[in-house]
Amino acid sequence: LETGCLSIIVLGASGDLAKKKTFPALFNLYGKGFLQSDEVHIFGYARTKISDDELRDRIRGYLPQSKEDAEDVSKFLQLIKYVTGSYDSAEGFQALDKAITEQEISKNIREGLSRRLFYLALPPSVYPQVCKMIKSYCMNKSDLGGWTRIVVEKPFGKDLASAEELSSQIGELFDEPQIYRIDHYLGKELVQNLLVLRFANRLFLPLWNRDNIDNVQIVFREDFGTEGRGGYFDQYGIIRDIIQNHLLQVFCLVAMEKPVSLKPEHIRDEKVKVLQSVIPIKDEEVVIGQYEGYKDDPTVPDNSNTPTFATMILRIHNERWEGVPFILKAGKALNSRKAEIRVQFKDVPGDIFKCQKQGRNEFVIRLQPSEAMYMKLTVKQPGLEMSTAQSELDLSYTQRYQGVVIPEAYERLILDTIKGDQQHFVRRDELKAAWEIFTPLLHRIDDGEFKPIPYKMGSRGPVEADELLERAGYVQTHDY
Ligand code: BG6
Repeated sequence: LETGCLSIIVLGASGDLAKKKTFPALFNLYGKGFLQSDEVHIFGYARTKISDDELRDRIRGYLPQSKEDAEDVSKFLQLIKYVTGSYDSAEGFQALDKAITEQEISKNIREGLSRRLFYLALPPSVYPQVCKMIKSYCMNKSDLGGWTRIVVEKPFGKDLASAEELSSQIGELFDEPQIYRIDHYLGKELVQNLLVLRFANRLFLPLWNRDNIDNVQIVFREDFGTEGRGGYFDQYGIIRDIIQNHLLQVFCLVAMEKPVSLKPEHIRDEKVKVLQSVIPIKDEEVVIGQYEGYKDDPTVPDNSNTPTFATMILRIHNERWEGVPFILKAGKALNSRKAEIRVQFKDVPGDIFKCQKQGRNEFVIRLQPSEAMYMKLTVKQPGLEMSTAQSELDLSYTQRYQGVVIPEAYERLILDTIKGDQQHFVRRDELKAAWEIFTPLLHRIDDGEFKPIPYKMGSRGPVEADELLERAGYVQTHDY
């Protein structure tokens, strides 16, 4: 990392996201030595009137509890200072600036750098306001050089118009290279592996197209419901919560063309292109569902039509993918917790073994849990008879990389924001293209044109979704 004073300011410091994700990620970086310098300072900012120590106590419960970690935990917590203020108060942000500046000056900055990273662990409704305050009162001291960066999280709007409005409001204050839009799926190990896998392996290059691939599934399942988040969730639903962002980012990496280089701009250019090649989603290629019991949550309205499950098909109009269905599926309160990509290949022409269909090749990338990649192959069943069976070439990370601890998504992404690497962050035009795909469908759902099909908690979701999968050409080669 560059030297010079680095201040990480977590706004919304006493909230859930900060406690559960941001501070633990910062702690992990600290534990790995990245933030262990007297030039690094962490500030929390929020409305709650508490002391430094009270904030530290609140965070402590979310950090590792083992004896070995105890020393690191207490040193890390000592780095954190707290400033109280509201999100629209000039005095609050002036006090914050004063606290940061004092550290910058007192530390006799080596390279003269003032680096300020503002992490907005806040609801998006206050982003414009907070960005204005930062811009007015808290920018890095230009005479010292350095930078000011803003980290924001989804939901970036509810549809194309609201997302564009939010982007414009922030865009008037900060330039694109200063804005880091997090999609934490881009920080997952096997998502980051997709580029390498596709473009560093000769094996895949000639196969990755409509001539060989029959269909692609990108699936997210959770085996729990909205659990206390019903109020938030009900305003968004599964398409905005998971599909429009997390699954669509994975979709981009699976479907995009090879970027000119690994420069963040080149990668993001290709993502935008593939998003722009998606044709409008057809009503008959969408199934939405809602689990029974969802409306028992007191924060969810009794007449809610919000989907907690959706399966839909995206189709790409380009030379590589014409005719290949990309099935995106996400659901809460299902029978398992899993996120995976399943690339199913076409049948072998002129099959002499009469084993096709159930013997289709399928390449599976399991993003979580237990990261793995495996290729389903048809082999001869060992023995005297000449019969066939399905088997797998299996690369399971826990076996292959024993003892390697896979970093948490947030940890990786925060490190990138400090380094100034935007490769794994969502660019404004990418966000716009993503909303363009889903907005018409979302509006039809919001207008009640689709009714979610009820499904049982702990089930596979509505059977209609399986029927859609079958219609799309997917041949089941595994137990669900
Ligand atoms: C969040 C969604 O972005 O991702 C949650 O808002 C969801 O609803 C979560 O549970 C899933 O993340 P992960 O990393 O556990 O798959």
